[in-house]
Amino acid sequence: MKKHNYSLLPHNSFGFDIEADTFVDYSTEAELIDFLRHNNADDTPLLHIGGGNNLLFTGDFAGTVLHSSIKDISVTDETDDSITLRVGSGVVFDDLCRYTVEHNIGGLENLSLIPSEVGAAAIQNIGAYGTEIKDLITKVDTIEIATGKRRTFTAAECMYGYRNSIFKTALAGQYIVVYVGICLTKNPKPNIEYAALRNELADNKEPSIYDVRQAVIHIRNAKLPDPKVLGNAGSFFKNPYCTRSYYEDLRRKYCDIPHYDISEEEVKIPAAYLIERCGFKGIRYGNVGAYDKQPLVLVNYGGATPDEVIALADNIEKSVLSEFGISLEREVIYV
Ligand code: EPU
Repeated sequence: MKKHNYSLLPHNSFGFDIEADTFVDYSTEAELIDFLRHNNADDTPLLHIGGGNNLLFTGDFAGTVLHSSIKDISVTDETDDSITLRVGSGVVFDDLCRYTVEHNIGGLENLSLIPSEVGAAAIQNIGAYGTEIKDLITKVDTIEIATGKRRTFTAAECMYGYRNSIFKTALAGQYIVVYVGICLTKNPKPNIEYAALRNELADNKEPSIYDVRQAVIHIRNAKLPDPKVLGNAGSFFKNPYCTRSYYEDLRRKYCDIPHYDISEEEVKIPAAYLIERCGFKGIRYGNVGAYDKQPLVLVNYGGATPDEVIALADNIEKSVLSEFGISLEREVIYV
């Protein structure tokens, strides 16, 4: 499907009514290769999106926006304990979570309800409640934009990090993910190490992965705004890393400052805490604000412009830097 002057309203969770010059939705690898070889000879800017849940369009896009509707799922390997799936990049991530949990296949339950599609999930290394998708990915099949040729990346070659991969760094804008290999277990053992999840399941001595999925859905619904109701792109910033000694210094002044251990030398601090301490929790400026239950999420209360969100984000970054000496890094990508 190819459309011109196409509204991206259904494709950006902030809910901005902006347009792309051209929008191309493909359903097969062959269709994508054909587009890259024959329709993309000029220098028109190209942007590949997933569910548009992690993007901030700063205005209309003067180029072609590509979207995958490759939705087939197949089993590529199966043992007594494990099952490896080859999942199309256009599969809605939570549809995959629900399907696997319903079939008692474990691994994805903690990632329930993350608004994403499978290709974007593999690029962004989505994570929640103690699970990151990188630990389940076996390989990523891609098409090189410049040549239309296939290339498969092993999980190690993807260079995964916290909300990061080679597709966002050294090879950004060069490859399109078409399929993702995901290895799951047929003997699920729920991971409820994450404090909020453990609390939610406190009365359940032997939670199943179905219970974990329900608990995650409950926590997310209680804390995070539904983008269909209130435009947002999830966490706007990443949780910053700092040295342990810097954290200890901060703790002298802010005795309740939380942290997660990363290594002997490094800790991660919840950005939500820093933003709340700077007074932004629940604040509203015009049509935008920092969500009252989770200030790491910036929301469009309706009719906001991209500039309003950017101004609020800049304001937060400046305040956190001046109060804590920490530079917040954006998780949301500006286009
Ligand atoms: N906190 C506050 N004030 C608040 C909310 C939280 O101080 O209003 C502090 C608390 O100390 C809390 C801590 O922040 O314990 C962590 O909060 P939460 O469990 O809500 O998680 P998060 O670190 O803010 C991350 C991910 C989320 C993911 C959750 C659960 C990032 C940038 N965000 O948020 O991912 O769902 O953990 O695992 O890593 C996303 O990436 O879009 C996203 C929503």
